[in-house]
Order: sequence, then C-alpha cells, then structure tokens
Amino acid sequence: MEIKAFIFDLDGVLTDTAEYHYQAWKRLAGRLGMKFDRKENERLKGVSRMQSLEIILELNKRQDEFSEEEKARLADEKNEEYVRLIQKVSPDDVLGGVMPFLREARENGMKLAVASASKNARTVLGGLNIAWIFDYIADAARIKNTKPDPEVFLNCAKHLGVPPGSCIGFEDAQAGIEAIHAAGMFAVGIHVDVTGDAPDLILSSTEELDYRTVMDAAVRKK
Ligand code: BG6
Ligand code: MG
Repeated sequence: MEIKAFIFDLDGVLTDTAEYHYQAWKRLAGRLGMKFDRKENERLKGVSRMQSLEIILELNKRQDEFSEEEKARLADEKNEEYVRLIQKVSPDDVLGGVMPFLREARENGMKLAVASASKNARTVLGGLNIAWIFDYIADAARIKNTKPDPEVFLNCAKHLGVPPGSCIGFEDAQAGIEAIHAAGMFAVGIHVDVTGDAPDLILSSTEELDYRTVMDAAVRKK
C-alpha cells in the first residue's frame, strides 16, 4: 500500500515537553514524599494524566491512600505546574531536524497529523507555531482509550481520509510504538527506551529524520 500520511506524537517527538511533564510530576512526587526518577518516568510517556498519577502512586505503594477527589486534585496540581512550564515554549523549541522533515513530507504530498495524548497539545503547538503545517490535530479530550490503545492513531487516519496501512507513526514512547502497531501502521521510534515491541525503524534523535530513509524503510517492510 502506498504511504500517504505521517502521524506524529508531540511530547518528545516534535518538542522536548516530555521533560516538562517529568519535572511537573517530580515536583508533585517530592511534595508528597514519594520516589520518582527518570527511569520510572519512561512508563508515563504516552499515557494519560490520571493513569500517570496511578503509576506513581503504585510505584510508591500508596495507591489506596487517596480518594478519587483527592487524586483529581493531585492531577490538577501537576497540570498547573506543567501549564506554567509550557508558557515558555517558543518556535526555538521545535526539535532539530523536525521542520525540514515536515516541509519535505508536505512537498511530497504527505498528509500530516498529530496524535498526542495531551490535553495541552494545542497550547504547545501554538507556542511552537507549527499547528499550521498539520492537516489534523487529534483532540485528546475526545479519545477514550490512551496509548498503547490504537484509538488516537486510528482517529487521525480517519480524519485524514487515509487507510491505517498507508500511515507512518512517529513516537518516543514504548506505549506509543505499541499503539502504532496495533493501528496497523509502520512505526518509527525516536530515542525510545525499547522494553517491548520494537519500532520498525529506530532513530536516536530527530536530527536523523530523513524523508527518503523513512519512506524506503516503510516500503521495504511491505
Ligand atoms: C502525553 C505525554 O503526550 O500526554 C504524557 O507523553 C502525558 O506524559 C500525556 O501524561 C497527557 O498530557 P496532559 O497534558 O493531558 O496531562
Ligand atoms: Mg511522547
């Protein structure tokens, strides 16, 4: 099947906001006297805000300590800090190699979409000033099942009017790679800490994004 669309995760792929998510969770964990490090943070990449909180509570064996209302307040507290951190996101924060890659993809007629689990995706894309380049941006608030479920990638393919098998997904998280594969798409992993299902093409950073390399790898797989 011909490749017709590229679907990108946002946090950690188009920009390094994965670091801000980490800092915001780390601050909350610190206030609650809980342990939380970068290795553990890998499990939070691509998963929703509430699920992320559950993972941190579970890691600290404190999952039974808080009511649903308290948990919602803790998630809000993390989000307030995250929103504060992303105010400083600017066009300079688009990761190296991303803009030329997006431009070349567009020039070659690829449709482009963003498949982020973040309810703050539009704010971040606005700060980066790159929303205009995408044909579709999934609305995380309308996605019921978070990655590794394929829902957000399938939602993008549907709105682009392209069959999933004609899409390539780009991710920095293990959960995201699994979501792309479950959607029936070719998976490009960028700086992924692979702990399970491996990406079809592995890049160590966005600087390695190259239109021909990606397309050739996808065509070879078919
Ligand atoms: C994903 C991040 O993109 O969005 C996760 O990888 C984050 O770390 C998730 O938890 C939800 O983000 P938000 O902004 O809705 O809390
Ligand atoms: Mg990510």
